[in-house]
Amino acid sequence: MSVESTTRAVTTLRLKEMKGRGEKISMLTSYDFSMATIVDAAGIDVILVGDSAANVMAGYETTLPITLDQMIYHARSVTRAVKRALVVVDMPFGTYQGDSQAALDSAIRIMKETEADAVKMEGGEEILDSIKRILSAGIPVMGHLGLTPQSIHKFGTYTVRAKEEAEAQRLLHDAHLLEEAGCFSIVLEKIPATLATRVSQELSIPTIGIGAGAGTDGQVLVIHDMLGINKGFSPRFLRRYADLHEVMSDAVSRYIEDVKSGDFPNDKEQY
Ligand code: KIV
Repeated sequence: MSVESTTRAVTTLRLKEMKGRGEKISMLTSYDFSMATIVDAAGIDVILVGDSAANVMAGYETTLPITLDQMIYHARSVTRAVKRALVVVDMPFGTYQGDSQAALDSAIRIMKETEADAVKMEGGEEILDSIKRILSAGIPVMGHLGLTPQSIHKFGTYTVRAKEEAEAQRLLHDAHLLEEAGCFSIVLEKIPATLATRVSQELSIPTIGIGAGAGTDGQVLVIHDMLGINKGFSPRFLRRYADLHEVMSDAVSRYIEDVKSGDFPNDKEQY
């Protein structure tokens, strides 16, 4: 089998080249086959199988409860659909914060069982051993700094991070450490736009922002939020591209009406 047929069209190297020529990187989450088919065919660069699946697919308040087995299930459903985009899978809470050997074992399971292209991990210096060990096994790692939802119980709030100088300096330091370690990209979540721009200018690897302004090398949103499926979440950074909540509710209501009235199925809709 040729290399071309075993890798997707978008690779980690391609993302770096895109940054080099100033081409913005588009990234969205997906968690299932049908959604990933649409998102990939539309031409997205990166699909993130985010642990936000815990929120939008399973209805948990935080991302903490989702398990490695559940992430693998979602990721496998996505990779079956994706032909072009780079597929990145979130390592769930508890699989990499301790022992780096356990972190490597989890990352290897993700790569072997899902056929994804890379993993994503939240944090900086405190998880560097795990990141380095995973990278040393040839597994590409995307970092994630700023608002790190897996640490919600430490911060107690989802508000903007790194507004104070000390935290901004720490984030800058962490971003450089992740680049030096060999991460191919870093997500910057909910930090001031000026800081995100500075990080993006100082690093040679691409940054992908969410609520981090226009100065990052790419943008990511949770698909349920940008499609307006999930109406209860309206942060300032979110742009809604559709109101699928409305479209879907309307379709379901009309179906119920048609079933109740006997209008569905009609003569042509039966055998
Ligand atoms: O889990 C997720 O969807 C994420 C994005 C918000 C970046 O980590």
